[in-house]
Amino acid sequence: MVSTSKKRIIGSGVLALAGLLAWGSGSADEARVKVDDGSFRCITQMTPVRHFFVDNLAGNLAGTVAVAQAGKGDYPEGSVLQIMPNEVMVKQQKGFNPATRDWEFFWIDNTKEGSKIFTRGFAEVNNRLGLNCFACHVKAEPVYDFVCEQGHGCDPIPVTRPMFGALQRTDPRCPNASNVSAEDAASLQQLGEIVKALLKKD
Ligand code: HEC
Repeated sequence: MVSTSKKRIIGSGVLALAGLLAWGSGSADEARVKVDDGSFRCITQMTPVRHFFVDNLAGNLAGTVAVAQAGKGDYPEGSVLQIMPNEVMVKQQKGFNPATRDWEFFWIDNTKEGSKIFTRGFAEVNNRLGLNCFACHVKAEPVYDFVCEQGHGCDPIPVTRPMFGALQRTDPRCPNASNVSAEDAASLQQLGEIVKALLKKD
């Protein structure tokens, strides 16, 4: 079992390495895709592709949808990907952060009123379970550009597709979020139990 402090040391090692990799490759430039709380919206009003949702903050939705539908290739600048309402990947300009292939990771809080960015960044961002976004997504085979789906090389996670669907349909930012089906309620309960067990283990 890796202790939390060890995890932190490993985490900062990854961060330092990412910094070194980014150094000297134009990363001093500003991020071109501007992202703030207002960049995010009800997940089910984004464009659905299979079991996840896409958008583009640089006006190139067609480019993003094309890569998502092809299921491989490099996503264009401005791409937004979401499967969980509160976790987002946004693609910055090419070369901005080679370590993450220019993906910026976000953990956002959502309420009826909208979204608030809780944490954002590149190799250093964790999800609500304290797990590092980059560490999982970097395992996807290069042709998939950090997209895990299933069978792309990422470690499997205990969240099933019905659970993702239930989270999407109950996104508090969406108009019908409070109409929860019995099936979704059951999925959410199962997910709650898994999360509780995972948090206890730490
Ligand atoms: C424990 C590993 C793990 C961590 C940590 C993790 N993810 Fe994922 N993520 C996955 C897997 C596996 C999938 C695919 C799930 C599926 O399709 O069933 C996924 C799916 C996604 C997707 C949909 C596109 C894709 O890759 O399939 C996005 C967007 C995403 N995660 C963003 C994030 C962000 C942002 C964070 C951090 C806040 C994060 N993830 C943390 C493993 C992880």
